[in-house]
Amino acid sequence: MPTFKPQIPMVVDPAGVDASNAARPMGRTTDTSRAEMADETGGVPRIDFSDISNPYIDYQSIDLLLTLQHPRSDAYDEMCFFIMGQVKELLFKSLHFELHNARHLVREDQLDDALFIADRALQITKFLTNAWDVVATVSAEGFNQFRNHLDEASGQLSFMFRHVEFILGNKDRRLASAHRNVPHVWPYVEEALESPSLYDEVLRLLARQGFEIAPEALERDWADQYVAHESVEQAWFEIIGDASTGNGLYRLGEVLVALDDQMAQYRWRHFVLVSRIIGYKPGTGGSAGVEWLRHTTDFRYFPELWSVRTRLET
Ligand code: HEM
Repeated sequence: MPTFKPQIPMVVDPAGVDASNAARPMGRTTDTSRAEMADETGGVPRIDFSDISNPYIDYQSIDLLLTLQHPRSDAYDEMCFFIMGQVKELLFKSLHFELHNARHLVREDQLDDALFIADRALQITKFLTNAWDVVATVSAEGFNQFRNHLDEASGQLSFMFRHVEFILGNKDRRLASAHRNVPHVWPYVEEALESPSLYDEVLRLLARQGFEIAPEALERDWADQYVAHESVEQAWFEIIGDASTGNGLYRLGEVLVALDDQMAQYRWRHFVLVSRIIGYKPGTGGSAGVEWLRHTTDFRYFPELWSVRTRLET
């Protein structure tokens, strides 16, 4: 942890940025127009743009994005912490997008497409876990230099993480309600809390495919935490009995358990990192800190996919 005051290089003047969060108008190119442009430029990238922006900046509002990093202190480690927090929020959004669409496809019985998407979700989750390597370079002393500036900000208030948890099936009314006062966020959190998770839809798929799933697993108050069912474990037991790559349900079970595994690693890395950085101090969000986080490390979204392994014989 360097002790000097960080230099923050200027890369964009915020005064010139269009701060609207709307998509900026853009043109389109085609194979033909791109070939013509390459002819005009002699095959080197174009560098003359008449407007005060360029299409790369406009496509993703890059100049706006790069003005949203506001460390609140002079502490060297804060910029790293700040940007990694934003990076993780984007990855949560990306993961949630994939899981949302995988759930839709499962609901529509389009298993092959759902599997394709679930594999991408798994890769994003690995990326999220690996991102802890960077956050772990923040030392305990480095973190202490800016911790007071966080006020009561805490990752547990991440509505994007809550969306990930809810679509995977870890429902929690209390943590959801922390967003009740944010009118542009709450309706979506509430809807997510009250909707079937990806796993709920998987269980309905199993029922449609002829497995005898207990009715209380198929129709319930979706905002309640899922409780493991014997009938679901039995269904996975039968599916694993035909452990062939041609069995889409077997492949689905395997990708789900891999996803659960990876999310467990994600939570475990966070838990260990927090212990290393703040020891046994309370969190900024009002919890006891690591003692509160410890319960998250045991959690599994798809419990029967774990318990069924106990029944598999050699
Ligand atoms: C110096 C690094 C970090 C420390 C010391 C830390 C500490 C904590 C603590 C103590 C909690 C428990 C709640 C509370 O604040 O009272 C928590 C929860 C949480 N943190 Fe962190 N955190 C760190 C980095 C991050 C980063 C970079 C993210 C990513 C956005 C993150 C995401 C979360 C989430 C999502 C929760 C809620 C967990 C759950 O509901 O299962 N944390 N963190």
